[in-house]
Amino acid sequence: MTVLEAADVHKRFGGVVALAGANLELAAGEVHVLIGANGCGKSTLCKIITGSVFADRGTIRLDGRAMRFRTPSEAARAGVGVFYQELSLIPQLTVAENLFLRRPPRSRAGLVDRRRLRREASRALERFAGAIGDIGPDHLVADLSADQRQVVEILKVLVDEPRVILFDEPTAALDNRQVEVFFDLVDALRREGRSIIFISHRMDEVFRIGDRVTVFRNGESVATMHIADTDKDEVVEKMLGTRIEAVERRRDAPKAADVAMRAEAIGGTHFDDVSFDLRRGEILGLGGLHGQGQSSLLRALFGADNAFSGSVAVGGEVYRPRGPRDAIRAGVAYVSGDRGRDGVFPVRPVFENFVAALLTRRRRARLDRRALSAEVGAVGDRLKLRAASLDALISELSGGNQQKVVIGRWLVNEPRILLLDDPTKGIDLNTKSDLYRILDELCMEGVSVVFYSSEERELLANADRIAVFNGGRVVDLLEGERVSELNLYRAAFAAEGH
Ligand SMILES: Nc1ncnc2c1ncn2[C@@H]1O[C@H](COP(=O)(O)OP(=O)(O)O)[C@@H](O)[C@H]1O
Ligand SMILES: [Mg+2]
Repeated sequence: MTVLEAADVHKRFGGVVALAGANLELAAGEVHVLIGANGCGKSTLCKIITGSVFADRGTIRLDGRAMRFRTPSEAARAGVGVFYQELSLIPQLTVAENLFLRRPPRSRAGLVDRRRLRREASRALERFAGAIGDIGPDHLVADLSADQRQVVEILKVLVDEPRVILFDEPTAALDNRQVEVFFDLVDALRREGRSIIFISHRMDEVFRIGDRVTVFRNGESVATMHIADTDKDEVVEKMLGTRIEAVERRRDAPKAADVAMRAEAIGGTHFDDVSFDLRRGEILGLGGLHGQGQSSLLRALFGADNAFSGSVAVGGEVYRPRGPRDAIRAGVAYVSGDRGRDGVFPVRPVFENFVAALLTRRRRARLDRRALSAEVGAVGDRLKLRAASLDALISELSGGNQQKVVIGRWLVNEPRILLLDDPTKGIDLNTKSDLYRILDELCMEGVSVVFYSSEERELLANADRIAVFNGGRVVDLLEGERVSELNLYRAAFAAEGH
């Protein structure tokens, strides 16, 4: 019996198509998993079902009746509860107050019954007993850790006793033990006859908990399968669609075996236990879903974040930058796709932008304009930089040409190691191919590159090897024949993060 149905749902945000024909049928008492790549519309569908986003087209039916909730509260009153990735707790209130924010227990006189509030909150917390430390109903949410808050958020959905529950990536911030408890909880909810939509990135969770799975791709639901009748490979194939095809590799793996940078079990803000050998003249790709620690690692290696734990050697010497200056002096360069943040000095001329890093490295070098101009001019030519002159303000250049200046800055500086943090974000195709060509040339000259890209195809086409990140760790290192889109997706969606 179908409890909830979404039929042919469409939604655009300005020019972005979030949903283009999404369908979903939730049966009574089932756990139905939604899976798909980042940005394929899963959260948007949840928000449409529960009334915080409105569809452009399509129908939502609850028990066969078309519904159009205007707010999540309205959905909650109809028995549809939702857990979102964005946390909604109020830090200044206690756990108990947050749990029962919508419907606090009241005395006959209509006042909030504090004793019952605390008692019922304690009962709700019991569900995670042993896995969330010693938090009680009177703790302020402000004092809780991220995982504890996420648990409270989950419990907050449950206090309304919803018949239909949408969990949008509820396990993202939980540790192993909490995930186990959560799965036990979901099992219990299913036994009670509740119907659950569960969104996850993690393939093992799909198979651990789901009855059926619906795969989304680019805003469309492309397949619904019984978990018992499918396997991980089939699910991954559906997520990729016809995109599984060999990507032409642009370069041959480097011949040199000497190590330019060696990282041993390093950890930082969003990554842990990362080890790799970066060979001379190679491009080591960092793959995986967005935000799995790749950028954080690159920034830490450049000394731009908190210090990392573990050890790194550059050219055989201990490397422990206390800031970007140390990195630059060790011949390590960093380019991010976020030019506004750490790329350019917008109101300075192209020339100054070019030599900025150089001056950090050659501390005593005077700004000998004529000598430097020749160097800068040569690099500009090599990059096919299109600027009126070296005195033009960089802000007058196109985004692609600005990015060339940012890269050119490091070429002037002759780095040994280039850290690229999604460097082609938002630039045109011509500039992209200029950059790929330059990367090739740099590698030929013995420069080593660590390259994170949010575009899988760019990574597959340019990297010699790919370290796939998942939950802050490297879960697979693709080399040789194993460098493929399929393997990249398999590892990116696998479960090792937990
Ligand atoms: N409020 C919004 N404004 C503009 N674009 C949005 C908004 N919400 C989502 N999108 C875009 O819609 C697409 C689908 O997003 P989302 O539903 O969050 O995907 P998923 O949950 O599958 O990762 C993405 O391209 C996202 O950037
Ligand atoms: Mg989402």
